Amino acid sequence: MTTDQIAALNARYAIPGRVALERGPGDLPFVRLHGDHADGTIALQGATTTGYEPSGSAPVLWISRASHYAPDRAIRGGIPLCWPWFGPHPSDPSKPQHGFVRTRPWTVLGASVAADGATEVRLGLDDSAETRALWPHAFRLALTVQVGASLHVALDTHNTGDEPFTFTGALHSYFDVADATAITIDGLDRCSYVDQVDARRVKLQQGPVTISAETDRVYQDTTATCTIDDPTRGRRIKIAKEGSRSTVVWNPWRDKAQRMADFGDDEYLRMVCVEVANALDHAVTLAPGAQHRLATTISVEAA
Ligand code: BG6
Repeated sequence: MTTDQIAALNARYAIPGRVALERGPGDLPFVRLHGDHADGTIALQGATTTGYEPSGSAPVLWISRASHYAPDRAIRGGIPLCWPWFGPHPSDPSKPQHGFVRTRPWTVLGASVAADGATEVRLGLDDSAETRALWPHAFRLALTVQVGASLHVALDTHNTGDEPFTFTGALHSYFDVADATAITIDGLDRCSYVDQVDARRVKLQQGPVTISAETDRVYQDTTATCTIDDPTRGRRIKIAKEGSRSTVVWNPWRDKAQRMADFGDDEYLRMVCVEVANALDHAVTLAPGAQHRLATTISVEAA
């Protein structure tokens, strides 16, 4: 994005000391939010929340040092959006993994500061000839990011066409942890999951989830809040959700990390994804004119 385009966005949306548009890595445009209780950054590329730093706490979201920052590439870290399908396309493997909105430029719809000192930005994306070539439906998406004592991210899907459509998706959140092998993830005990690294076998979770190998699981039929307990860093990250019936837990571990160009070889020990999702059996069907909200509230407490 050019300096003039950034200046035009600032003229319209900046709030002095609180909200600013700026050029970031790869010259991509980012929204920087500065609130009373936390700072945040959001890339217009994919409407990806790339940073959340509550005052006095280490960054909550993880970003790979090897991430691409380029048009048409997903950012490796933060909260990319998977939509309108999660994972590979259900019938056409030539279509992009996790849908197409994480690689598109979104537009700014508005920004504001709440009475409690939280800052907010709203981004939007509508269907176009390019999106209809990949997915033949009319839609309007709005992403609201509120950066305060907690981080609230809400993806609203609106069916603006005259036919129903069905979609899956996720807020693909990457969390920064001191040592992935030392964390426990609570909230999924007795929940069944599809094990994507074991021939998609359906298994039952017993106790907290721990990470000691490649992990790629879709927990089904759960609306529960998850908590990542990170004893090395002495904090717990709470992930509450709305409009979501699946939770995905992912860590690529060593070999897969090495195969990924945009993932540092040793970084798998510093992250875990806990994703608020609607995947596999939990696709959502929206009638013409109807809306759906997929949302998460992320908060941090001392352990
Ligand atoms: C997870 C999936 O949500 O995302 C994994 O469950 C996938 O199967 C991972 O490997 C990363 O996907 P991508 O397309 O960003 O490399």
